[in-house]
Amino acid sequence: MRHLRHPLAEHVVACLRDRSTDPGEFRRLARRVSTLLIAEATRDLPTEPREVTTPLGVAPGLRLAGPVVAVPVLRAGLGMLEAFVELVPEAQVGYVGLERNEETAVARRYYEKVPKGIDRASVFLLDPMLATGGSAVMALRALREVGVRGVRVLSIVSAPEGIRHLEAEAPDAIVFTVAVDQGLDARKFILPGLGDFGDRLYGT
Ligand code: PRP
Ligand code: URA
Repeated sequence: MRHLRHPLAEHVVACLRDRSTDPGEFRRLARRVSTLLIAEATRDLPTEPREVTTPLGVAPGLRLAGPVVAVPVLRAGLGMLEAFVELVPEAQVGYVGLERNEETAVARRYYEKVPKGIDRASVFLLDPMLATGGSAVMALRALREVGVRGVRVLSIVSAPEGIRHLEAEAPDAIVFTVAVDQGLDARKFILPGLGDFGDRLYGT
């Protein structure tokens, strides 16, 4: 697990947590903190040399060398996608649709669409909340079925239970998170967390 410790990210998470933050502001904040998290999680993307001609001469440079795929988990992961395609416009996008049952907190797969060749790409799973870890494990299972390994899982707020679950079930994945909270309540919500991310993002 990589814990992003950055004052700008921590500032934004505090604003996201605030119950008085309205959906419009929540979306802007989600995008801001996602930009910081994505910058951290893409540090080791493969690159290759590329010379560029400036107005005054030739400069050494680098360009991205391999395919990149972002996979937001519907719905809440969509709140992180714009930041991703802004930073990595070359990225392809796949989708995994999951929904936690409100009583059991067990996720159900309802939609999947990923680009061809995803097994050769650097893959980033976008899901802002890692609570029990059940959804992330299920999404990684869906990706494993199409040959994807070594996924970077980007979560804004995580519970220790979810991190442990994911690391046990998918040791090849790496979790990047901004906040590691106290734990889960009886309904498997993160404490103190920020509530239901999808509901706050979309005002449902
Ligand atoms: C939320 C969240 C994660 C999941 C985390 O989604 O976005 O996908 O719960 O919980 P877990 O770690 O215990 O599985 P939810 O199923 O509420 O759907 P939504 O994004 O449509 O709101
Ligand atoms: N999903 C959320 O959106 N919030 C939680 O606290 C747990 C799961």
